[in-house]
Amino acid sequence: ATTLGASAAERGRFFGTAVAAGKLGDGSYTTILNREFNQVTPENEMKIDATEPQRGQFSYGNADRIVQHARSRGMQVRGHTLAWHSQQPGWMQSLSGSTLRQAMLNHVTQVATHFRGQVTWWDVVNEAFADGSGGGRRDSNLQRTGNDWIEAAFRAADAADPDAQLCYNDYNTDNWTAAKTQGVYRMVQDFKSRGVPIDCVGFQAHFTGGSNYPSNFRTTLSSFAALGVDVHITELDIRNAPADAYRNVTNDCLAVPRCTGITVWGIRDSDSWRSGESPLLFNSGGTKKAAYDAVLAAL
Ligand code: XIL
Repeated sequence: ATTLGASAAERGRFFGTAVAAGKLGDGSYTTILNREFNQVTPENEMKIDATEPQRGQFSYGNADRIVQHARSRGMQVRGHTLAWHSQQPGWMQSLSGSTLRQAMLNHVTQVATHFRGQVTWWDVVNEAFADGSGGGRRDSNLQRTGNDWIEAAFRAADAADPDAQLCYNDYNTDNWTAAKTQGVYRMVQDFKSRGVPIDCVGFQAHFTGGSNYPSNFRTTLSSFAALGVDVHITELDIRNAPADAYRNVTNDCLAVPRCTGITVWGIRDSDSWRSGESPLLFNSGGTKKAAYDAVLAAL
């Protein structure tokens, strides 16, 4: 096939991109989006500050616009994200303890209910583990409500949308031997052994090249998959977009049957949160880069 989405589909996978609602009126943006991708992740529009800007007052306009754009064109939607230490609205940042726990669970329930039936996967919890050598949880207001906050969030999401596939998503979990990777692995293993509803693990894959893209990434993907979860590359971008690194990441996913799709974190370099690093598959003028050709050829 001649596009990323169609080629991935021939391999039984999706190929998606982060989408910003504010760009859906940009014709050059939507031309590439509609031609190349069969999955979208709202870049910011489903985050807590966007969907519940005031406590108990929910705001879905921009997220609904992305969902409508995607679903009317047969693209699957990844919801991102229900519980996270970052991009919390001010009211949530100022809560703690059981009040915060209840507010978080209510948020999960309300948002997952709103999008029920429209979202294939949810990043239920994002970035809950710490960097460094400890392998433990990141300190955050949510973590301070109790170590079981993650499973409580997954159970609330499952109750609200039983058909959605529920994912844990993080970064710097690519190197199989890293303490953070092992910490997330043990959590997923524990959840599966106790019947906590988890279906998938997302690897953000914000790479800088070099050792940041580990040669054992494929081992990481296959090891998590062996726990009985699907694995996804959820936010792929690579500093300077080296074609060989993009090819290797694509091949790593294709080598693992339960690696069911890849999402890049934006379309053109000018759309990227790392735009100074030109990390994406299209240049700012919308022209395909060498990395695009490498990915398409690998798919
Ligand atoms: C980023 C967005 O791309 C930016 O527009 C925003 O200002 C900050 O968040 N990990 C994640 C994503 O899970 O939600 C982040 O997205 C990038 C890092």
